[in-house]
Amino acid sequence: MRNFLTAVALAAFGASAALSQTALAQTVGFSQIGSESGWRAAETTLTKQQAEERGITLKFSDAQQKQENQIAAIRSFIAQGVDAILLAPVVATGWDSVLKEAKDAEIPVVLLDRQVDSDKSLYLTAVGSDLVHEGEVAGQWLVDHVAGKECRVVELQGTTGSSPAIDRKTGFEKAIAGHDNVKIVRSQTGDFTRAQGKEVMESFLQAEGRGQNICALYAHNDDMAVGAIQAIKEAGLKPGDDILVVSIDGVPDIFKAIAAGEANATVELTPNMAGPAFDALKAYMDDGTVPPKFIQTDSKLYTKADDPEGEYERRKNLGY
Ligand code: AHR
Repeated sequence: MRNFLTAVALAAFGASAALSQTALAQTVGFSQIGSESGWRAAETTLTKQQAEERGITLKFSDAQQKQENQIAAIRSFIAQGVDAILLAPVVATGWDSVLKEAKDAEIPVVLLDRQVDSDKSLYLTAVGSDLVHEGEVAGQWLVDHVAGKECRVVELQGTTGSSPAIDRKTGFEKAIAGHDNVKIVRSQTGDFTRAQGKEVMESFLQAEGRGQNICALYAHNDDMAVGAIQAIKEAGLKPGDDILVVSIDGVPDIFKAIAAGEANATVELTPNMAGPAFDALKAYMDDGTVPPKFIQTDSKLYTKADDPEGEYERRKNLGY
C-alpha cells in the first residue's frame, strides 16, 4: 500500500512515476472541528456511514473547536501511517507546517467543507460549497423580499477566522451592495452555536429599540438562527414576520421554523462531503487520477414554498 501511495503521491505532486498496483484507502484519519451545530453533527454521522459502507477504517478525532487539537490529530495520523487524511479546518490560516508534514509523509489530505489559506499544492482536493455564493443567495433573497423598503439587518457571524464566516459575509454584502434600503446595522460572531446565537441576538434586540428597529436577521448558520428565533420570541416579537430570518445550512429545525412561519429562508449545505471525498481518494489511489482542487457541492435556497414539513422529514431520515 505504501509503495503504491508513494507512486501516486509523486505523480500528483509533479514527478512521473509508474503505478504498479491498484488499491483503496484502508485507513483514513478524520480531524473534525467539533460539534458546534446540527449540521456539523450530521457531517460526522454521514462521514462515519460513508466510511463504513466503503470498508474504510476511520480514525476519528474531535478537536473541540481548537486548531491546536486538529494539528495534534494530524501529526498523530501521520505517525500512525494512515493512508489519507480528511480535515475540516476550524479556521483558514495556520496550516502550512502540518500540511507540509503530511505531504512529506506522502499522505494525501482532503479538506472538507471549509477552506485554508495555504498553498493548494499542500492538499489533494477540497470538497465544499461556494461559500461566497451561499451568502449572495441569502442576501439576494432579502433584497428581493423587502423590495425597496428600508431594512436594517443584524448579522450573526460564524466562527471568527473561519472560511464560512469570512465568505458568507462577503457574499451577503455583495448581494446588498447598491441596494441602499438594505443595511447591516450590527454584526457579531455567535460562533456557529445555538446558545451564542441566542445570547448575541438578545444584545442586538436590546440595542435596537427592543427589536423595533430590526427588519431582518442574517445568520451564517441555522443553529444561530434557531437560538435567535427564541430570543425574538422572548422579546415579544414574531420571528419571520416582525423580524425576517434568513440563514444557511438546511438543518431539520430550521425547516420546522419555516413551516411554523418563524423563519423565512435557508440555503442548504449538504452534510455529505465525505462521499465525494472518498470517491476522489479512491480514483486517486486506483489509478493516480488527480481530482480538481475544488469539488463543489450544491447550494439551494428553501422557503415556505418548498414543502418545509417534507424537507424536515427528509433530513431526519438522512443522518441529522
Ligand atoms: O463549515 C460549515 C459550517 O460549519 C456550517 O454552516 C455550520 O453549521 C458549521 O458549524
